[in-house]
Amino acid sequence: MTTAPILVIYAHPAPQRSPANRRLAAAARATPGVQVQDLYELYPDFDIDGERERALLSAAHLVVFLHPFRWYGMPSLMKEWMEQVLQPGWAYGKGECALRGKGYWLVTTTGSGPDAYRPGGLHGRPFADFLAPFEQTAALCGMDWIEPLVLHGAARADEATIEAHAAEFRRRLAGYAGLALAASTPYTGEA
Ligand SMILES: Cc1cc2nc3c(=O)[nH]c(=O)nc-3n(C[C@H](O)[C@H](O)[C@H](O)COP(=O)(O)O)c2cc1C
Repeated sequence: MTTAPILVIYAHPAPQRSPANRRLAAAARATPGVQVQDLYELYPDFDIDGERERALLSAAHLVVFLHPFRWYGMPSLMKEWMEQVLQPGWAYGKGECALRGKGYWLVTTTGSGPDAYRPGGLHGRPFADFLAPFEQTAALCGMDWIEPLVLHGAARADEATIEAHAAEFRRRLAGYAGLALAASTPYTGEA
């Protein structure tokens, strides 16, 4: 089993119909020091290998969660991954937690544009409100929350917008990978 300082947990239920996330996953795969776990490819029957996933997490400094927003949260296999992998007594609880001090970076896309995420808009509240469960998951596990990278309006984004976003993602990943490899200590959250 190979390990990398940056682990990207990627979940897209229909990657063949994914202009945005598929491109972001490709950008991650092309970045040295980054390993991509494509959950729907690895676990099409939802039978997640928790031990293997925990070993990969233990070796990483930064965990990136890459997925489209679905019903105001994560795709179902990503949720299953959380349930099977983030076990009490390992990821959180009394004593030393395995994920403490590692970075938690959500990289996601939405179908709606930013205007839909406001009081009176289609989704009724700011997008940040929907991030509370993610942020609290990081906090419970003692992980360092990194401001999410979000592409709003991804469903209608043109080629150039997606390309620019993927390039920014890759630039940030390369920065974090460089920091992690150079220091061999948890990154500082700046890249
Ligand atoms: C079942 C389902 C649920 C979705 N839920 C949301 C949502 O809660 N908020 C939103 O803005 N977009 C939602 N979308 C739109 C997707 O987030 C959007 O199509 C995706 O981010 C585009 O990325 P992709 O090109 O990689 O598929 C949903 C789409 C589907 C199919």
